[in-house]
Amino acid sequence: MKDKFLVRGLSGKKKLKGSIAVGGAKNAALKLLATTILFKGPVVLNNLPDIEDVRRMTEILSDLGASVERLGKHSYRINTDTLNKNEVDQNMGRRMRASIVLTGPLLARFGEVTLPHPGGDVIGSRPIDLFLSGFKSMGASVEWRGERYRIHTPKKKKLRGASIFSALQTVTVTETLLMAGVLAEGKSVLKNAAMEPEIKELADFLSAGGAKISGAGTPTISVEGGGLLKAEKAWSVMPDRIEAGSFLILGALAAENLEITDCLPEHLESVLNLLRLSGVPMKIKKNSIFISGNDSRVGSFQAINVKTHEYPGFPTDLQAPMVVFLTQAKGESLVFETIFEGRLAYTADLVSMGADIKMWDPHRVMVKGPTPLRGRELEGPDIRAGLAFLIAALVAKGESVLNSVYHIDRGYESIEKRLALLGAKVERVR
Ligand code: EPU
Repeated sequence: MKDKFLVRGLSGKKKLKGSIAVGGAKNAALKLLATTILFKGPVVLNNLPDIEDVRRMTEILSDLGASVERLGKHSYRINTDTLNKNEVDQNMGRRMRASIVLTGPLLARFGEVTLPHPGGDVIGSRPIDLFLSGFKSMGASVEWRGERYRIHTPKKKKLRGASIFSALQTVTVTETLLMAGVLAEGKSVLKNAAMEPEIKELADFLSAGGAKISGAGTPTISVEGGGLLKAEKAWSVMPDRIEAGSFLILGALAAENLEITDCLPEHLESVLNLLRLSGVPMKIKKNSIFISGNDSRVGSFQAINVKTHEYPGFPTDLQAPMVVFLTQAKGESLVFETIFEGRLAYTADLVSMGADIKMWDPHRVMVKGPTPLRGRELEGPDIRAGLAFLIAALVAKGESVLNSVYHIDRGYESIEKRLALLGAKVERVR
């Protein structure tokens, strides 16, 4: 049974107020869970968001034979000493793109892994060629057999450390090869590595367990291979910068004042910079952002051009909420999505709500504002567009129905309850 959200729009009025805390980062949590395969003995992870994707990843770990104990709503103890399988289940793997990161630790530990082509959001073609070429450089072979990849080293021996230049700066490729390098023979150097804060988090977590890593957060990461790691103490997952950025945009559009707590503004510089240029009044502290004195007039924000980019540029995961923001800004904004080729398709739904958005090509749209939005029935095509629709529905006049709430649940914990505390009317129905 699919849940829906019934959303009562605020007709452009900025009525929400209060404080909202940011949860643990989905895209860090999933990798930390996967990397427990590189540890001997138990690993305790705290501040994991209670979201669908985290549940899916723990299910895959259980299926591989790990002991997965839930210690609390946001806390798990995982022990992979009992792992007895190196095959990622066909259905589980197809449901989530992030399942691909399991290949790094599984291959490194067992010398072999099989998996389906990973599924996930429909936001572009999402090939895995760079993972496969990375593994080949480390001495592995890849076969495609009966709908599954089999990746293995000769005689299931250790991977070989290697120097790998990645044609693109990609987050999951960097993370996967870094994990693989932790148990490889000798040193690996990852060049043109992605620099997202989630990668630094992963490297810090691995280093705390004894891995020898340098350069994480820069385009060149080195890792000296060794044995299984040991977690000396519990690890708390970093705050989700994408959730924080989404709340900021919601606050700018629909709140009289809003305090966003438990976040790291230092991870959001590109976003804060653009919102400030556009006229959003913000006070920034070390772990919180406060929107106050928000101008209640429609069109008080200025149009700005946005180009998504690898970190520290503007994150593609905030592109959809940003487009909603720009529908309410005065003037013409050009939005250039440079990472994924299918990630602007959702804009057609915003147009049906009354937005003035022209698609130039699959990577670029022109948004003209401000335009009032009307409530509508909407399908969320992916996690981020799903949340953008929720923001649009709150800004709009009238009621909206959001189908495929599943996508929103994949990335945001109990969002309707947290927004209700700010005064939003979002009801979950079956
Ligand atoms: N690419 C290739 N070959 C590969 C791998 C990637 O051509 O082997 C291309 C992709 O097609 C894409 C580009 O490289 O055009 C960048 O992809 P990247 O690998 O950086 O994306 P990802 O690692 O698959 C992660 C996040 C995404 C986020 C991007 C960009 C996870 C689980 N996913 O994806 O998050 O959009 O980085 O920051 O960490 C989301 O959370 O909603 C989400 C989609």
